[in-house]
Amino acid sequence: MDSIHIRGGVRLQGKVRIQGSKNASLPILAATLLTRGTNHIRNCPKIADVYRMLHLLESLGCQVAWEGDGVRVNAEDAGLRQMPADAITGMRSSLCLLGALLGRTGRVVMEYPGGCVIGARPIDLHLGALQQLGAHFHEEEGTIIGEAPRGLTGTLIQMPKSSVGATENIVLAAVMARGETIVRGAAREPEVEALCAFLCQCGAKIQGIGTDELRIEGGRALHGAQIRVPADRIVAGTYLLACLGTGGSVLLEDAPIGHMGAVIALARQLGATLQASSEGLFVQAPDVLTACPALSTEIYPGFPTDLQSIALAVMTAADGTCLIEEKIFENRFRVLEPLTDMGGHFARIDARRVLVEGNSTLQGREVEARELRGGAALVVAGLMAGGETVVRGCAFIDRGYENICRDLRELGARIYRV
Ligand code: UD1
Repeated sequence: MDSIHIRGGVRLQGKVRIQGSKNASLPILAATLLTRGTNHIRNCPKIADVYRMLHLLESLGCQVAWEGDGVRVNAEDAGLRQMPADAITGMRSSLCLLGALLGRTGRVVMEYPGGCVIGARPIDLHLGALQQLGAHFHEEEGTIIGEAPRGLTGTLIQMPKSSVGATENIVLAAVMARGETIVRGAAREPEVEALCAFLCQCGAKIQGIGTDELRIEGGRALHGAQIRVPADRIVAGTYLLACLGTGGSVLLEDAPIGHMGAVIALARQLGATLQASSEGLFVQAPDVLTACPALSTEIYPGFPTDLQSIALAVMTAADGTCLIEEKIFENRFRVLEPLTDMGGHFARIDARRVLVEGNSTLQGREVEARELRGGAALVVAGLMAGGETVVRGCAFIDRGYENICRDLRELGARIYRV
């Protein structure tokens, strides 16, 4: 089993290019199933979840080929076929095949999807919305079977709660449905916007992109298109926070600055100097980080839950205390145990709130990643810590980071994969 070895205590310095977005590329790849012709998905990150999605598309009959920094997908001959169960259960994003396959074939058969264990993560919002479009679902031995025998029909969908994945599923199904679909309470995350932008490139008509009310005119034939996947705001945020944790100065090339408002605001509160330019985002850490008194995760444009564990790790070094509240997922504090082992001090208030007591000096330890972003938080903690840190469970980190060791070595870190 691979592990990441870090000798901490180096201030990160230099520049690093930010990879394409995981959460934007996955639904876009699923969307290629709705098209006839070849799609070119440029700046597609080479991460485990993308490889899984491509494997799933191939199993459905798509032609897939990497070309430079992108991937070409032709779904001309795609249809409903048996998909490899491990690729479905290995990631939450396989869920977007529900909407895409219902849209393409009117039928879907798949195992319950997996993904990081960061909360209950039910799929009721996905199924409920697709049912409103005319699909019926039942379950047979852990397999979801969805059918739309009379086809999908556009309707008004009022989301009871904001959900990125459910909004993406609605969009994927609704572009193929008869008539207009209106989604109220749609998720506004940039990844939903990227999916809609791609579908519009393919010939779909979607209005209200980037707002919480989407209007989708369904039933148009979609052709192949080209898109450049936006840079990953979570990877950019990870390296920004790593820079602050190590007292460094870093240029994040291609950082999606317009999508990073909340993390930029946090960095300013911590005392960082930031400068945006055509090259990217320059970040200079202060001599001493000033803890922000409170930080809570929110739906976009609030502070992203995917950066919460990483912010928590950095907060251990700040001057003062910080109350962190997790409002999106209920099981996102699993990183507290290894961070406590490394010398972090925390007071757990309740299931969703933790008080980080700052001014701690972390010490290198052998720790285990148990999910993607928590794993990245342990890598950042290792960069901040004295001595050697060994992070096991790299497979989780590979789900979202192309090559975290290469990127951080470019910034001067002493970090190796063994
Ligand atoms: C996506 C992202 C994930 C990010 C999350 C929130 C992908 C592949 N993953 O996950 O990285 O952390 O958005 O920004 O894009 N919920 C329900 N029922 C459902 C669906 C969701 O109750 O059917 C709840 C979830 O448990 C959670 C909240 O809704 O509490 C938001 O989840 P959602 O926005 O759906 O997250 P994902 O799409 O799974």
